[in-house]
Amino acid sequence: MRFVELIRKKRDGHPLEDSELQALIEAYTEGDLPDYQMAAFLMAVYYKSMEATELAVWTEAMLHSGQVLDLSDIDGAKVDKHSTGGVGDKVSLILAPLAAAAGLKVPMISGRGLGHTGGTLDKLESIPGFDVNQSVQRFIELVDTLGLGLIGQTGEIAPADKKLYALRDVTATVECIPLIASSIMSKKLAEGIDSLVLDVKVGSGAFMKNVDRARKLAQTMIDIGASMDRPVRALITDMDQPLGRAVGNSLEVIESLETLRGEGPEDLTEITLELVVEMLDVAGKADDRDEAKAHLRSLLDDGSAMEAFTRIIEAQGGDPGVCTDPSLLPSADYTVEFEALRDGVIQSIDAQEVGIAAMELGAGRRTKEDTIDHGVGLVFQKKRGDEVSSGEPILVIHYSDRQSLDLAKKRLRAAIVIGDQPLKAPPLILDRLQ
Ligand code: URA
Repeated sequence: MRFVELIRKKRDGHPLEDSELQALIEAYTEGDLPDYQMAAFLMAVYYKSMEATELAVWTEAMLHSGQVLDLSDIDGAKVDKHSTGGVGDKVSLILAPLAAAAGLKVPMISGRGLGHTGGTLDKLESIPGFDVNQSVQRFIELVDTLGLGLIGQTGEIAPADKKLYALRDVTATVECIPLIASSIMSKKLAEGIDSLVLDVKVGSGAFMKNVDRARKLAQTMIDIGASMDRPVRALITDMDQPLGRAVGNSLEVIESLETLRGEGPEDLTEITLELVVEMLDVAGKADDRDEAKAHLRSLLDDGSAMEAFTRIIEAQGGDPGVCTDPSLLPSADYTVEFEALRDGVIQSIDAQEVGIAAMELGAGRRTKEDTIDHGVGLVFQKKRGDEVSSGEPILVIHYSDRQSLDLAKKRLRAAIVIGDQPLKAPPLILDRLQ
């Protein structure tokens, strides 16, 4: 096949045949199509997009570029959740055990944090001993016996996406809805799930900066799921300020443990419950959504969700003692309060800047090769809409070196705006699509 013809076809806005799309993915995965040609093709997609039928074929080819897990021997509904990423987003740590306690099977394959966003794997790895590198066989066993498994992307799952994502990263083709949608859906559907719930974040700390683009991304992923008979639901949720109070790995595990005990912050608890209700609903196990939500709350209050988390920590080599004694988690050397400089009401907390401040402290990675400090981060005492007095702490900074503290403080000073207007907290869940 002459790939230059396919690039030209896409460049000129014509849809490609199924066999042409499959050939592109196969050749690129095998190393038979050079980066420069795929880069040109991706740029053509960036400008000319893909039709729904093309995108379904493209995604399916990516999904089959590597191993597709077969969970058909596991009884029960296999459902996962994917978040498009944000700041302070520790939902997966609570949601997976809660959904398992509610009877779902959750094969969760997560990623690491990069830039201002955190990653579930980094959070889990702050639990001493927790091993996110389980074999596929062991992962399937965990999902079967404990109702959940929490692992990292393996080289065998959707290798086409791994190569394409790296290429997009250096060719300015990441911000393209069909390419984002196919990237996410190829990895998620390779988990062997029956259905999927998406948390598409929108706002300053999210990939999608406005609701219309977030809706478009969500709908594109729902359509891809439908083309493969995998029902997908999506919530569009606010990421204009950090979710919950903690940002930083150990600190987010501590907040997740509080939430698993039913004592977490309202926004984090609410989003988690709503997402698990969606998971139950998409699996046909929530006739009455209010009842389902009340039941999930009871699983937090009676310790069932915490028990599921304790068991998976133990099964994956971690120290389950952290569940009752969070002091076993790594911690920063120092803490300092970050105070308000004036009286007023917090008008905004720029989530992206907060994420970068946490990264400056060492909680995140500037490049994929960076190592992270699991103990450092931020814990907010005030959020958007809260009143503050001059000198009152807005948050506590957990840090290990003074230079990074100074950088983080500068970011935070610019990120948090205090004004005089009273402010009603905007809604957390902006839309629901199916
Ligand atoms: N997350 C992914 O997995 N892929 C993208 O393209 C963007 C975000």
